[in-house]
Amino acid sequence: MTDIMRAVVQRGYGRPDDVLELTEIERPVPGAGEVLVRLHATSVNTPDWILVTGTPTVLRLGSGLRRPSAPVRGSDVAGTVAAVGPGVTDLAPGDAVFGSGWQNRAGGGAGTFAEYTVAPADQLLRKPAELPFAEAAAAVMSGITALTAVRDVIAAGPGTRLLINGASGGVGTFAVQLAARAGARVTAVCSGRNAEFVRALGAEHVIDHTVEDYTRGTERYDAILDNVLNHSPAASARMLAPAGVYVPNSVGSGSRLLAGLPRMARAATLLRLTGTRVRTVTCVPNRENLAAVAEQLGTGEVTAIVERSYPLDEAASAVSHMLGHRARGNIVITM
Ligand SMILES: NC(=O)c1ccc[n+]([C@@H]2O[C@H](COP(=O)([O-])OP(=O)(O)OC[C@H]3O[C@@H](n4cnc5c(N)ncnc54)[C@H](OP(=O)(O)O)[C@@H]3O)[C@@H](O)[C@H]2O)c1
Repeated sequence: MTDIMRAVVQRGYGRPDDVLELTEIERPVPGAGEVLVRLHATSVNTPDWILVTGTPTVLRLGSGLRRPSAPVRGSDVAGTVAAVGPGVTDLAPGDAVFGSGWQNRAGGGAGTFAEYTVAPADQLLRKPAELPFAEAAAAVMSGITALTAVRDVIAAGPGTRLLINGASGGVGTFAVQLAARAGARVTAVCSGRNAEFVRALGAEHVIDHTVEDYTRGTERYDAILDNVLNHSPAASARMLAPAGVYVPNSVGSGSRLLAGLPRMARAATLLRLTGTRVRTVTCVPNRENLAAVAEQLGTGEVTAIVERSYPLDEAASAVSHMLGHRARGNIVITM
């Protein structure tokens, strides 16, 4: 007899309320090297709303023309090991873990908007006891992306002048804290209502994007982490000091078919031709990166900001919240 679980299944592409439905499906079975996790929390990230809405449309060529081939969204994992597959020896039922079910294929894995998921064992780490499940879930994709950007791509250190566009969102709030902790001088771009919030996270300067355009300022920066891509990359890159690095970290906006992808590709080529350093960020949810994020959170100086937690049966509202592009920190779903 197969085990049944509750999961939020995607019926097509469109508005979250129209295409996401809480229903019962078969519980996944862990294969070799995989772990079955009973989820306590997951979080909503950009790939989730991109796959729910199916925009930019071109991505449907990979994910599925009428609906994603994998029906359950979500990749961040925080929960308790329920069973392990063949070959998994270092995790056992009952262990509290966090990590990622992302499997880098169309649809992204078994999905985590559900009571159970399977994840590769090498993408799961024992969760520090003092870290709440909701914060652990919020720390996976947002935390690793921010850490990779700040530590590896930008190599922020004492005195680095770093501008973070989109500083008050999931990735941005981690990036501000990590960069400030490394001694960087952070300029945060967000709306005025979030100015004091990002200052409290460590930003030295704040630019309110509703009244000021950072690409028209007089300051120059050693690095720009662009989580929004609402300006042309060339305009952003003009704000760099000599040898500065521009880090585009968004698909941006544009046509329904391609969003900002063509503009981004053209601009990246052009910037490289003019000698501007352009670097992208890849979120790799391996144990090493999970441990590095956990270590940062363990200092108490870096916090996973959770604006709101939604119960599983309100997953569509959680995705809609993200789609509003006004999330302050991370949006979590709890089971
Ligand atoms: N490289 C990777 O592997 C990877 C992984 C995950 C995510 N990402 C990318 O990282 C980016 C950020 O993700 P996220 O989860 O942090 O997004 P998010 O939480 O949805 O970002 C929401 C934030 O965007 C800010 N924002 C909206 N319009 C803005 C504008 N015009 N100027 C400045 N800020 C603006 C809002 O700030 P205000 O309300 O204060 O305006 C809000 O706090 C996404 O583009 C995503 O694709 C990349």
